[in-house]
Amino acid sequence: AARETAPPTEPVTLPTTRPTGCPFDPPAELAQLRERQPLSRMTYPDGHIGWLATGHSVVRAVLADPRFSSRQELMHHPLADIGELPPATVGDMTGIDAPEHTRYRRLLMGKFTVRRMRELTERVEQITAEHLDAMERQGGPVDLVEAYAQPIPALMICELLGVPYADREIFQRHTTTLLTQSTDQEAQYAALTALQEYLHALVLAKRAEPTDDLLGDLTTSDLTDEELTGIGGLLLAAGLDTTANMLAHGTFALLSNPDQLAALRSDPDLADQAVEELMRYLTVADPAVRSALEDIELDGRLIKAGETVTLSMQAANRDPQKFPDPDTLDLRRKATGHLGFGHGIHQCLGQQLARVEMRVALPALLTRFPTLRLAVPAEEVPLRTGMNIYGVHRLPVTWDKE
Ligand code: HEM
Repeated sequence: AARETAPPTEPVTLPTTRPTGCPFDPPAELAQLRERQPLSRMTYPDGHIGWLATGHSVVRAVLADPRFSSRQELMHHPLADIGELPPATVGDMTGIDAPEHTRYRRLLMGKFTVRRMRELTERVEQITAEHLDAMERQGGPVDLVEAYAQPIPALMICELLGVPYADREIFQRHTTTLLTQSTDQEAQYAALTALQEYLHALVLAKRAEPTDDLLGDLTTSDLTDEELTGIGGLLLAAGLDTTANMLAHGTFALLSNPDQLAALRSDPDLADQAVEELMRYLTVADPAVRSALEDIELDGRLIKAGETVTLSMQAANRDPQKFPDPDTLDLRRKATGHLGFGHGIHQCLGQQLARVEMRVALPALLTRFPTLRLAVPAEEVPLRTGMNIYGVHRLPVTWDKE
């Protein structure tokens, strides 16, 4: 009987090895799979046999289909044998389905208003200029991750949540510890605990005296303190590493493609498109995972209830059926429809903020330092291989003094 239900082709494991010499390309195996079978059987580290989706249309279809659940406790981990996953923590809307998810999503969407985004744009401009000034004073070489790519999103999350100025240094110290690769486990855990405690205290303070920021607004909703603290933690977790790596790895990609860099420098109107194309080309947040709630026919295959589906957004974003000449960074192309922010009900909540940050910070950096270049050979830039969010650990850059 086992034979009869055996998969038609050998299940694969999730490819993670990127081609040497190109820090921007996904593992080559993903392209082969996408070509052969955009929905393939996949063996998970715990022995589960589920699925791996690599084609743009099939990845998008799963993300859009409510029969695929985001509930963490229903999933098998695609990269590690860590046993049964616990349900999402309170306030973590990434790991729940409608209607619980809808309640959080509605409350939060209403807080990402046009007015708030406009105010945040002004703050990104100020914060960006301050950090460029500091870099200029210090002189090259500097590590762009530490000097620019990390502090900008961290400070923007402070703006969004309404972390008071006096607390920013503590807040940033803990987030830096969390984001730095070299720090030991104990220090990481201590920083995480300190941040959670900090967020909890912040929620209580805002309850007592509401302020005009996202957390302050939400204290007037029916969310509990625990939910608010969890939401604060989620925004922090979702908005920092992702944006920081888009800024740093995006700069690395531009410096590695001089013709594209020149195009962006000479045509500032290209910035919006450039951001979308960098999102497509780099796809730093990958993969997404879902679990089938019932038997589902898709792409000529039968996905059984309870099976986990891993969605390779990086493979989808390099699908030649959707994006011609997909492995070329082309800032002039129309990259709309990329899945770098996901798709469907869980599509990135912070995407407008992330876009504002990239849209402002990338061109500002290039304008301030017209001779910006890597300070080490490209092969020596340490890549975030095997991390949740791909990118670079450090990006040593330098420039000519005026
Ligand atoms: C969801 C990517 C910035 C908050 C997501 C998802 C992706 C993503 C791919 C969907 C995951 C899934 O469906 O499983 C990114 C990238 C960013 C970025 C690449 C930077 C360039 C931000 C920022 C914030 C944020 C700045 C917060 C201010 C969230 C939240 C969710 C989410 C709360 C969950 C939404 C839900 O479950 O309904 N993001 N993100 N993200 N992102 Fe982002």
